[in-house]
Amino acid sequence: MTNPWLQIPAADYEGHMSSPEIAQQQFLARTFQESLGKYESGSIAMLGCTTGNGLEHIDPAVTKKVTAVDINPEYLEILRRRHARLVAGLEVVEADLETCALESSAYSLVFAGLIFEYVQPQILLPKIAGWLRDGGVMVAVLQLPAKNHTKVSQSRFESLKALAPIMQLVPPRQFKSIANDAGLMEAESKTVHLESGKPFYIGTYAKR
Ligand SMILES: C[S@@+](CC[C@H](N)C(=O)[O-])C[C@H]1O[C@@H](n2cnc3c(N)ncnc32)[C@H](O)[C@@H]1O
Repeated sequence: MTNPWLQIPAADYEGHMSSPEIAQQQFLARTFQESLGKYESGSIAMLGCTTGNGLEHIDPAVTKKVTAVDINPEYLEILRRRHARLVAGLEVVEADLETCALESSAYSLVFAGLIFEYVQPQILLPKIAGWLRDGGVMVAVLQLPAKNHTKVSQSRFESLKALAPIMQLVPPRQFKSIANDAGLMEAESKTVHLESGKPFYIGTYAKR
């Protein structure tokens, strides 16, 4: 089966995620920016990077290497156009996160915003543990279930509906247990409610 993400035009994705009533793109960019401020960010892997949301916050004096991974080549082409000149040491990788290999022990910060809804944590978390250097951290954002909200928010962008059958919400407790087994320990976590009412978990995990 073709991954439905390959059929969602970048314009639809960005239109949907940044629309005022959804505002998840702004939330993720803010969360990435906060991570840059809080954690060592000399070398970063951004997993499920789409068109590079948040990369505008990188300070090239601090960050020397950024690896941005996504399965959708159109998103990555836009990311390159927007950020190649601004972000030092940008490496763009078109790959499936369940099978791709990145340099081991190379990253001080791995940012994984709304990707575990599409990629199995049992497969990806041990890989992330291998990509982090000692003392490195992963910041993961998970969507939480909410009674009055559909998993994929409603919008005028019909193509996003293709995600509903593949999107799996991962309960933070289960996520934490899989992360622990992979050698990643929760250092901090919080729940954030967007104005829409949709709740999200933000967890920071340190490599043991
Ligand atoms: C909800 S978006 C992530 C949002 C983004 N992290 C941000 O901060 O704005 C999910 C992204 O993961 C990508 N993706 C989904 N499944 C993937 C896979 N198996 N391997 C690599 N990328 C994948 C999609 O193409 C999409 O760009």
